[in-house]
Amino acid sequence: MKNVICFFYVLLFIGCQKADDVSSCIPVPEHFPDITYPDNNQPTEARLALGKQLFFDTQLSIDSTISCASCHFPEFAFSDTIPLSKGVNGAFGPRNAPSLLNAAYSPYFNKDGGVKKLDLFALVPIEDHKEMGISALRLTKRLASNTALQDQAQAAYGRPLDAFVMTRALGIFVRSLNSGDSRYDAYLQDSMALSAAEERGRVLFHSPRTNCSQCHEGIFFTNHQFENNGALEMYSDQGRKLVTAKETDRATFKVPSLRNVAITGPYMHNGSYATLEEIVDHYDQGGYDHPNKSPLIQPMHLDPQEKADLIAFLHTLTDQRYTTSRSEQ
Ligand code: HEC
Ligand code: HEC
Repeated sequence: MKNVICFFYVLLFIGCQKADDVSSCIPVPEHFPDITYPDNNQPTEARLALGKQLFFDTQLSIDSTISCASCHFPEFAFSDTIPLSKGVNGAFGPRNAPSLLNAAYSPYFNKDGGVKKLDLFALVPIEDHKEMGISALRLTKRLASNTALQDQAQAAYGRPLDAFVMTRALGIFVRSLNSGDSRYDAYLQDSMALSAAEERGRVLFHSPRTNCSQCHEGIFFTNHQFENNGALEMYSDQGRKLVTAKETDRATFKVPSLRNVAITGPYMHNGSYATLEEIVDHYDQGGYDHPNKSPLIQPMHLDPQEKADLIAFLHTLTDQRYTTSRSEQ
């Protein structure tokens, strides 16, 4: 496993030089699928550098106080640490900010799946008046006199820094945030890598007793579907119904990946669960009733040891590379 870790890091620092040199630009863990990029946004070192620069830049908000990293903290797997994130003018949005790790593999974005393209995503928070609150046009004008950023935009996309360039560079940066270097990944290479408690938790997680892996399935711990898991007694957020207008989608939300879940709390679409212990208790009791609640969520009658094992297993999904700040790197 050590060799695999070194391999990732070496690639991270070499970066990529040419547009066709995709694999060295954004290294993908060997056991992950390749990332596909649109024709007009193949990764290059210049694009990645510009995206990273913009991600940490507060100029992207109307009052220059908020950057993407204000809600997606690198040291918490690019998620927020409070239930609802604070945008410009102290406004709180309606949802909890998720981790951005492995977003490259998601077929759609946001908890209702309302955004389909990662390369257009950045315009959503930039223009949202509860997040960064600035129109793309005004932002383009603001940055027109910033010669350093303009030079970077020319080097990356051969044109001035406009909405096209900004969202695409940010899309490249977000895709570079892949996470496949946890103790669970070590286990995939060496079945002895987990402790006895973690291994019992892993078996329980993948058993019909809990059904966890029916929804949190595969290498990314999500089936990318929308489900109601009975988390709340009352839902003020319509979830997927906002996109499809179907009553059967009311209060269903994207099944989140559980990678790095030990450091991405608070949890659920509105951040209403503070700890993994609360979540396991919730599932153990079968959750609140809701017309759209999945039949997979049933009382489980786990004993304290089993609950502790399940939580121990969830802790093996943390990739230590995303537990430190990287804004200065
Ligand atoms: C004020 C806080 C805030 C800021 C600033 C912010 N985000 Fe987010 N981000 C959120 C929240 C909240 C969500 C979930 C929204 C939802 O589900 O409707 C989210 C979701 C996302 C997602 C979708 C993840 C997924 O898997 O569904 C991406 C990608 C993303 N943000 C990238 C960015 C980028 C890039 C920026 C900077 C341009 C940014 N965010 C700025 C709070 C923020
Ligand atoms: C029917 C599908 C389904 C099953 C089965 C299921 N989950 Fe979930 N899980 C979800 C959905 C959907 C959410 C997000 C709900 C929301 O955003 O309100 C979620 C959220 C979570 C979260 C919070 C993650 C976050 O970032 O907010 C954890 C932890 C979790 N589940 C663990 C488990 C465990 C452990 C089991 C087994 C005991 C399990 N889940 C079974 C669908 C499921």
